Amino acid sequence: MNPFTYQNDELFAEQVALSEIAETYGTPTFVYSCAAITEAYQRFSDAFATHKHQICYAVKANSNLGVLTLLNSLGAGFDIVSGGELTRVLKAGANPGSVVFSGVGKLDWEITQSLEAGIGCFNIESDSELTQVNRLAAASNTRAPISIRVNPDVDAKTHPYISTGLKENKFGVSVSEALKMYARAKAMKHIDILGIDCHIGSQITELGPFLEALERILELVDLLERQDIKLQHIDLGGGIGVQYQNEETIDIGEYSAAILQSLGHRTHQLLFEPGRYIVANAGLLLSRVIHKKTNEGKNFAIIDAAMNDLIRPTLYQSWQAVSSIKQPTGKTEQLDLVGPVCETGDTLAKDRALEIDQNDLVAIHSAGAYGFVMSSNYNSRNKAAEIMVNGATAHCIRERESIQDQMRLEYKFTP
Ligand code: LLP
Repeated sequence: MNPFTYQNDELFAEQVALSEIAETYGTPTFVYSCAAITEAYQRFSDAFATHKHQICYAVKANSNLGVLTLLNSLGAGFDIVSGGELTRVLKAGANPGSVVFSGVGKLDWEITQSLEAGIGCFNIESDSELTQVNRLAAASNTRAPISIRVNPDVDAKTHPYISTGLKENKFGVSVSEALKMYARAKAMKHIDILGIDCHIGSQITELGPFLEALERILELVDLLERQDIKLQHIDLGGGIGVQYQNEETIDIGEYSAAILQSLGHRTHQLLFEPGRYIVANAGLLLSRVIHKKTNEGKNFAIIDAAMNDLIRPTLYQSWQAVSSIKQPTGKTEQLDLVGPVCETGDTLAKDRALEIDQNDLVAIHSAGAYGFVMSSNYNSRNKAAEIMVNGATAHCIRERESIQDQMRLEYKFTP
């Protein structure tokens, strides 16, 4: 569903006019739709209704407490990559048993914190980490539930920065290394082997790489069973792409049908770690045009959002749709949308046909995932506000930062 539609000639989020949000909370502001997050989560979950499964939402995509509490209320588990994310999901009321912990460099304190909380599974990414988790579980006088993250060496055919399943990537371990690690883990006193895990990349728009990875994982699952290592779950990671422009993407029904078919008679619980799929198109970044200018025949709209608010266009050359908040009448001009940050890379959208004047509002779409979470204070800009719209009501789920907030942890220094 698209929760952002023109009603009475202006763009709304569900039943709230974006101009009202700008009026009340200022700009730049991230706006999320509760209905769209709910619908995406439900669509994913419904696709696997016939098989035991758990969706562990990848917190890194959008870790706002409002988003986490919403997903928790829908029954989501969580995929975390830090102690900070664990604190957030616990604060959101998550059942620790439905939390999985991914990442190549878990710190001792993060592992201990997770053991104390009683999380569902550690996704182990190296032999050295296996030793570390066993040691810390022994120190806490407990046992750590684990999966081993296997790198199936498949090409996810996505942007190189977000491709993780090739053997040259830092993630996971090879199939042969995994076999050795399972054997070691089995003999460890403070380790419980629970499952197997893989995640091959992000914004994947074809089924092929997922199925190739699954095939390799299933071969390993069967091999392990023959060695009397029985797994309870198979974690297939996240990575399902969403539509940013008009690219073909994966249909969730086809994804689930193909996965369940490959799975065959196996009864393992399936875990998924989608991030982008759940939140990307449920959010936009609302911004105001500060100036318009023309340099050498090229038109620019300088807006009050910048690369520090939304770094994806700069970092990955991502294309995100832009709309004017006033419904266009057809008198568009070609424009680059740029921010106030002092870098040429601070371009949010290039060469778009838009109808916007100074002081008008614009929306940059698909900003619900990897938007606010990747924002920074570059140029001492305050981080944006975040709003959750539910029907006809807008709820502030994060206030705009102030410069005092930014300087709170700093000290003056005079030699
Ligand atoms: N699980 C693991 C272990 C991951 O590393 C990731 C994402 C996910 C799940 C969720 O993937 P998703 O379903 O959202 O594709 N900042 C980049 C994306 C980085 C993704 C990193 N890992 C971007 O803005 O495109």
